[in-house]
Amino acid sequence: MRVAVGTDHGGYALKADIFDEVRALGHVVVDKGTDSTDPVDYPDYADAVGLSVTSGEADRGIILCGSGVGASIAACKIAGVRAAVCHDTYSAHQGVEHDDMNVLTIGARIVGSELARELVRSFLGATFSGDERHVRRLNKVLAIEARFAGTKE
Ligand code: RB5
Repeated sequence: MRVAVGTDHGGYALKADIFDEVRALGHVVVDKGTDSTDPVDYPDYADAVGLSVTSGEADRGIILCGSGVGASIAACKIAGVRAAVCHDTYSAHQGVEHDDMNVLTIGARIVGSELARELVRSFLGATFSGDERHVRRLNKVLAIEARFAGTKE
């Protein structure tokens, strides 16, 4: 898979570990910045990763910020992005299997590098189940998204 990875300054500390883990799993990293600990705005990186996924440039996305919260909120504003902050491995794979989560967000001020690597392994190792009940629920999520499409920015 191609995996877009973006961080703000709060997530930068884990960037190298995430790149390394994604590559160790045999995937390709699409680097969406940032490139230092200089303060930046997390929505810009959530936007870049989300658009990478929805445009087809990447298959999945990973965004790191301080808490993982801002990145997930911002990324979910993009139609087609299903992002969530997951700091446990169950959510990191179940979010894909049941909810077709396509962007994982992690708080680099919350989790250490080893847990972050496990989260990446859980997320990238999972696939949407396609079970009827999960497809039905996903379609309801998409219907909510469609209801608000085209509303003013
Ligand atoms: C940056 O200080 C911090 O607010 C950001 O990384 C993130 O935690 C927002 O949710």
